[in-house]
Amino acid sequence: MTAGNRIVLSSDHAAIQLRQAIATHIEAHGWVVVDIGPTTPESTHYPKHGEATARLVASGDCRFGIILCGTGQGIMMAANKVKGIRCGVCVDTFSARMIRRHNDANMLSIGVRVVGEGLALDIVDAFLTTQFEGGRHATRVEMIRALEG
Ligand code: RB5
Repeated sequence: MTAGNRIVLSSDHAAIQLRQAIATHIEAHGWVVVDIGPTTPESTHYPKHGEATARLVASGDCRFGIILCGTGQGIMMAANKVKGIRCGVCVDTFSARMIRRHNDANMLSIGVRVVGEGLALDIVDAFLTTQFEGGRHATRVEMIRALEG
């Protein structure tokens, strides 16, 4: 099994149900899901779930990571602190395509209190089916990498 078809999923307590719906959806499209929880609804802290997901992507164990919290914002901020991670919050499919096409994003964040399940699944599909364009965008992604030190 290669990182190429592995996607790591995590969330905080707010988004467990949507995370499970996304897992079922992407498994049906042939992806191997690495779901690192949480599985119980007790209140938890989104930074640790964002970080744990990001580490599996940054290490090369998984090709992509999908994370969720109430807004998608807090968990995204934590994930982006991990070297090598480019994660965007998306509330629309256009942005989900563009963060792959232009920014070579390797993680996607969604807010369960912002978008419904149908749109969330479309956002995931847009993200996973779009390739990085390279060219002048590769120069810009390199500039982001350079900021990591
Ligand atoms: C949890 O209540 C909430 O703060 C969290 O899910 C997220 O929205 C943070 O950015």
